[in-house]
Amino acid sequence: MRGKNNQLKRDLCYSFDGFFWFFLSKGIFIMTLIKSLFSDGQELINKEVSLFGWARSVRRSKNVAFLALNDGSTQGTIQVVCDENLANFEEVSGKLAGTCFSVDGVVVKSMGKGQSIEIQAKKVVVEGDVSSEGYPLQKKATSLEFLREIPHLRARTNTFGAVFRLRHSISFATHQFFHQENFYYMNTPIVTASDCEGAGELFRVTTLDLDKLADGEKKKVDYNFDFYKKPAYLTVSGQLNAEAMAMGLGRVYTFGPTFRAENSHTSRHLSEFWMVEPEAAGFDLNDNMDLAENYLKYLINFILKENPEELAFLAQHYQKDLVESLEKVRSSNFVRLTYTEAISILEEAMKNKKVKFEYKVAYGTDLQSEHERYLTDVHFKGPVFVTDYPKSFKAFYMKLNDDNETVRAMDLLIPGIGELIGGSQREDNEEKLLARMKDAHLDPETYDWYLQLRRFGSIKHSGFGMGLERMIMYVTGMSNIRDVIAFPRFPGSAEF
Ligand code: 4AD
Ligand code: MG
Repeated sequence: MRGKNNQLKRDLCYSFDGFFWFFLSKGIFIMTLIKSLFSDGQELINKEVSLFGWARSVRRSKNVAFLALNDGSTQGTIQVVCDENLANFEEVSGKLAGTCFSVDGVVVKSMGKGQSIEIQAKKVVVEGDVSSEGYPLQKKATSLEFLREIPHLRARTNTFGAVFRLRHSISFATHQFFHQENFYYMNTPIVTASDCEGAGELFRVTTLDLDKLADGEKKKVDYNFDFYKKPAYLTVSGQLNAEAMAMGLGRVYTFGPTFRAENSHTSRHLSEFWMVEPEAAGFDLNDNMDLAENYLKYLINFILKENPEELAFLAQHYQKDLVESLEKVRSSNFVRLTYTEAISILEEAMKNKKVKFEYKVAYGTDLQSEHERYLTDVHFKGPVFVTDYPKSFKAFYMKLNDDNETVRAMDLLIPGIGELIGGSQREDNEEKLLARMKDAHLDPETYDWYLQLRRFGSIKHSGFGMGLERMIMYVTGMSNIRDVIAFPRFPGSAEF
């Protein structure tokens, strides 16, 4: 609290007419944020402030009106009391929810329930009126499905304010964590000629005139006429470039948008999502799991401290045990087991008729989300690392185990979500890597630079990718990934 107050004093400049303003170093005046009013409100009693906000509600009794304003800086609303002495009392008190107001007024102790302070308005300006027809965010609760159709307006709701502030916190804490752990932040390319996952789920990047290509005739495209003179794509992962950077800087991470043209219409898939990808020289799979576990706990600690109001709101409306389950995870040891052990648990559960799966459980096939859910939600009741999957359905770059059958892969599965993190120790033997590439039908020539990393001073190294949106789902209790990114992209939809 003390630190916050000092910060406020540093940021505030008392202008001669008694108003508080935030004074930025470049001399630009901006208004007091409602967040600061709540954290430092008692110190501001009887002081004058200027603020703005969108009205969550406008209530009028005979000669007084109450505006509940929110400016996006925090979860709660500040109550602005307008009495009939206000020059434009009739205009202000007749406005609708959604109207944007700016207010000059005095901070006073509140007589009412539910808030400790409020603003006694001296001057209120209607900044942005709301026309009565067509404004879709009325006071009554609106469904998430409906709000998904108006992503340009939903940031004004309590739910999406909470979600996006948490998204900010998770992103910010990511940089803090990796900086603390001596990882350097790198930016890897968005446009690439490589298919990192070897799964062929790539969006093409081209300047060729597709209308001319689509004349129905099958022709070979002459890439000499294309921008990069070769096939180019949007990246599915920054990993391969991150590996190259790690082979010079030791510990690096990339954090950027990634793109997948997989035709998945699920509540956990987007075609454009953000991924955090650390890569570390000298790390084996256990070091990699330790890093992932510490990272996740760091993020949870950070939001429990920084975003209690957001979490309380989301718990109340979406997931009752949200805070307790986050607290439990931060103090638990994540289970670690091999794919083979996981299959045994699932088979045993089926045999004992504890559960019925839609998809068959069989060694050699990938775990379906219902299997993952059984492990996290029912069997272990917490996060689970599954390691050492069969090579047949894992990416070419994962280190082959001595059994020649499984790879040093790790997936972190978490309750309610399934796979949050996918990672591995990387194959550092050039011959073995080449063989895996051929199996995956990848052209070694395109990846020669990647093979060179094994030829020229290689060292064991590992890394992982965490889907940012899946993490936001986990910490917000949102059950659809389209509700944790501002403008979601998925098959058939690139609106807004
Ligand atoms: O498991 P994935 O495919 O791993 C990689 O891309 C590695 N190259 C990462 C690395 O080792 N550097 O993806 C990593 C994570 C998944 O665990 C999941 O959380 C998320 O990215 N993810 C998606 N999130 C939303 N929509 C999709 N379509 C996603 N595909 C993967
Ligand atoms: Mg994966």
